[in-house]
Amino acid sequence: MSQYSQWYYDEFKQIGVDYTDIEEVQAYDLRMQKLRDAENEFNMLRELLKIKDTDLILEIGTGTGELALKLSAHCRKVVAIDISKKMLDFAKLKVESQKKANIQFYNAGFLTFENYDEPFDVIVTQLALHHLPDYWKMMALKRIYGMLKKDGKFYLRDVVFPSLIQDYDSYFNKIITDLKKSAGDKLAEETETHIRDEFSTLDWIMEGLLKNAGFCIEAVKFDGFMAGYLCKKGNVVNLL
Ligand SMILES: C[S@@+](CC[C@H](N)C(=O)[O-])C[C@H]1O[C@@H](n2cnc3c(N)ncnc32)[C@H](O)[C@@H]1O
Repeated sequence: MSQYSQWYYDEFKQIGVDYTDIEEVQAYDLRMQKLRDAENEFNMLRELLKIKDTDLILEIGTGTGELALKLSAHCRKVVAIDISKKMLDFAKLKVESQKKANIQFYNAGFLTFENYDEPFDVIVTQLALHHLPDYWKMMALKRIYGMLKKDGKFYLRDVVFPSLIQDYDSYFNKIITDLKKSAGDKLAEETETHIRDEFSTLDWIMEGLLKNAGFCIEAVKFDGFMAGYLCKKGNVVNLL
């Protein structure tokens, strides 16, 4: 971080769940294997982003590398970055076991990644942007905009809170109670940590941030408090 100003956000510090702890990393991977249908998520993304075998793709906050691995079978190269070395070590092991040569990993994040020689066709990030406070989300989105090719696509999926809720106490309490029943205590506890300590924002703020960074939002899909935004690099429109 030494080349950055004193006021620059230290994105390497852990907020909420500690992904520098190898036990958390292993538990995260196991839980995701059970809870998510990675194949289905990938097929949906491939279709949505119209991934081509010539594409250069950046994945930010790759975690245990599940998506990067799947993307790499259908594009020229995936650059996968994460601020957690432990997450990257885990992802590298997976990739090596499947003998994939077209994935490059970097220990860097939204605010610090610099190692690219050409603009990306596609940038993807899932469940990671909420680690940054809103001002720094904006800086991250502007950096993403700058790293994309003209007409490049950006897909953001993250926890985003709906604004049309009358009673947030009941809303969050019900989520935690339902999660305890459907997915167990650990995920319910992590969700409490998420709501309390991490930086998920409201839907109208997220949309404003994306538009202000210059993106055209082509499609939005909400699934509970999970939102997926398909964005295209457009002309910057300053909303202020
Ligand atoms: C909840 S996990 C999601 C992992 C993966 N994308 C997935 O969908 O399973 C969040 C990941 O974001 C990473 N992360 C946190 N802050 C980040 C930042 N500023 N830049 C890049 N990655 C970050 C964490 O280390 C962790 O691997």
